Parts: sequence; C-alpha cells; structure tokens
Amino acid sequence: MKKQIIVLPGDGVGREVMESAKLVLQAVASEFGHRFVFHEHLIGGAAIDACGTPLPQETVDACMQADAVLLGAVGGPQWDNHPSGQRPEAGLLSIRKTLGLFANLRPVKGFASLLDASPLKKEVVEGSDMLIIRELTGGIYFGQPSERTNDGNAVVDTLYYERTEMERIIDKAFQSALTRKKRLTSVDKANVLESSRMWREIVKEKQKQYPDVKVDHVLVDAAAMKLITQPDQFDVIVTENMFGDILSDEASVLTGSLGMLPSASIRTDGVGMYEPVHGSAPDIAGKGIANPFGMILSAAMMLRHSFGLEQEAKDIEDAVDTVLEQGYRTPDLAGAGERVVGTKEITDRLIDNM
Ligand code: NAI
Ligand code: MG
Repeated sequence: MKKQIIVLPGDGVGREVMESAKLVLQAVASEFGHRFVFHEHLIGGAAIDACGTPLPQETVDACMQADAVLLGAVGGPQWDNHPSGQRPEAGLLSIRKTLGLFANLRPVKGFASLLDASPLKKEVVEGSDMLIIRELTGGIYFGQPSERTNDGNAVVDTLYYERTEMERIIDKAFQSALTRKKRLTSVDKANVLESSRMWREIVKEKQKQYPDVKVDHVLVDAAAMKLITQPDQFDVIVTENMFGDILSDEASVLTGSLGMLPSASIRTDGVGMYEPVHGSAPDIAGKGIANPFGMILSAAMMLRHSFGLEQEAKDIEDAVDTVLEQGYRTPDLAGAGERVVGTKEITDRLIDNM
C-alpha cells in the first residue's frame, strides 16, 4: 500500500515526537511492505515565524490532497502576545474546520504497567480501556448568535445541531463499537436540553441498524462521576462537542501522563488528522526527553482509521505495552527502579519490539 502523509511537526516537543512517529511508521512500512511518503509542512508558531501566519495556504492545499495528516503540537511562550497579533493555536482550529473533521476519537487506557502513575487508585483504573467519540464541528462552540446583548448586561450562546450532524457521529460510534466490545454509552442531558432529546431519539433509531451493540444512555453529570469511579464500565462513549471536550480531558487522568494519549479527528471518507493530546511542552522542549507514545499511538490510529491497517496498528500498540513492561520510561512516567531513557532510546526499544 502506498500512502501520502502530510507531516506537520509544529513547535516545541511536537518536532521531537514527530521524528519518533516517522521512524516507527518506516519500520511498519518495511515490515509489511508498504510505502509511506512523508511531506513536511509548516503550522503554528514555526509558520508564524516563516510566513507571518499560523496556517499558510500551501499547508492547507497539501492537507486537502493528503491521505492523512500527522500533527505534533503547536504553541509556546514566544508567540504569546506576538507583535503580529497571530496565535499558533488558530492554525490548529482552522485546519480541523477546513478539513471538515467532525469526529474526534480519543482512546483512554489504564496501561497495566503504569497503574501507579495515575492519581486514581490502582483498583479503580485497572482494566479500563475506552474510546471517547466527541462531535467536533457543531454545537455550542459554533452556534450563532454568540454575543453580548442588552447593552452588555446579558449574553447568548447558541447550541445548534442539524439532524445529519448528529446522525453521522452516532453512526461512527456504532461502527466503532462493533470493532470493540460492542457496548456504546451515549452521553446527553436529555432531562433538560431539547438538543439532547433529539440526540437520544437518533441513538434509539440507529440502534435498530446495529442490533449487536448494547446501548445505554447516561446523563452527562452522572457520566462525569462514573468516569473516575468506575472507568472500567465504559467501552465506546459518544457525545456532543462541549460534553466531549470536558469528559475527554477528565478521562485523560486515568493514564497518568498526558504524554501517553493519542487522538484522531476524522470524517466519513476516512481522511483524518492524528495528533497527541498534549501541547508543545515548552518546559522540556529541546531536551530530548519528551514521551513520544502519544504521537506514536496517534500514528497507529492513522493506520487503523484512515488506511484500514488493523494488524499494523495493533503491532505498534502491542510494542508500546511491551516496552513499558520491560521497564523503560521517559521521565514523565518514571517511578522507582525503572529504566529512565530519552525520546530516541525509547523509540528504538519500541522498534526492536515490533
Ligand atoms: P502541555 O501539554 O504542552 O504541557 C503540560 C505538561 O505536560 C508540561 O509539564 C509538559 O512538560 C508535560 N508534557 C506534555 N507533553 C509531554 C510529553 N510528550 N512528554 C512528557 N511530558 C509532557 O500544555 P501547556 O503547558 O498548557 O501548553 C504549552 C503550549 O502548548 C501552549 O502554547 C499551548 O497553547 C500549547 N498547546 C497545544 C496543543 C496542541 O497543539 N494540540 C494542546 C495543548 C496546548
Ligand atoms: Mg479541551
């Protein structure tokens, strides 16, 4: 299989973890006889420095042609209050929207050998392995009007969804549930919000097409509680934009380090953008100690969701488990008696295990 991959390293540790992801993908390519062609482009602070804008048109054009996009991270203190008035993060929001990536997928797993790294009790985190699917391009973050009224003494934000927007994300969730434990939790606030009542109706309609998937409906406040008291009860969670924003950050504490978490933003034709959940980590950038697993696991998601290469994705994920079991840790994960190594070495050990 030959694929064109747009690589947007971005800023800070984004550049460092991207090098690791490329090495791992090259190893997969030679093992399975694929050809991945990488095309590197600018985004974020690096793009502001080079072209005065966080998202150059040339980067947009390249992404539009690509089979998939890999993104490191953007931002850093040198671009806060930049004289150009431009912000690196604007590039990120803009590329997601331009590409029409409506489904945000965030797997969260309590890695068996990292249970001590979580602030939650070991017994609580053990066995948890969920996929949170968040609607990404609709809802209250985009609805109009969103403004001050009554001479600045009142305010309105609008939660607007079209039926088709709900249908496509809910359908994606059922499909994902089929490839996992076939359990879907739909999160809403149907006791209060009309948008949630329509959401729930659509989930019930769709359920008829997926009789093998067991569905439950949980109110968002209860879901927030259950996520950290009984996380192992969840398989696939689907929810609208703002609820998903909050719940996915909450769930990220299960893993113990931000550096471990991957994400995907995709659309129906399979094109997607894959990026770690963490930012550019200016405090450790340039030191060669960033945890590359969030980025590498994002590359694995690309193989699975954009290219349909399940075995290849699984190979990477298993190798991550193995390296952790062998005791290798980047400093963000380090505990007593473990082998603390840098970005390059942990990547090499991972490739040895593939
Ligand atoms: P951050 O995620 O960059 O860092 C938070 C903490 O986690 C830091 O202590 C950092 O050292 C650590 N960390 C993050 N990734 C790590 C990794 N791979 N390995 C080891 N440790 C890691 O979030 P922060 O500090 O709030 O933001 C820094 C910059 O990144 C800001 O400019 C922010 O706007 C930007 N940012 C960009 C994101 C993106 O590109 N998707 C997401 C979040 C923040
Ligand atoms: Mg957030």
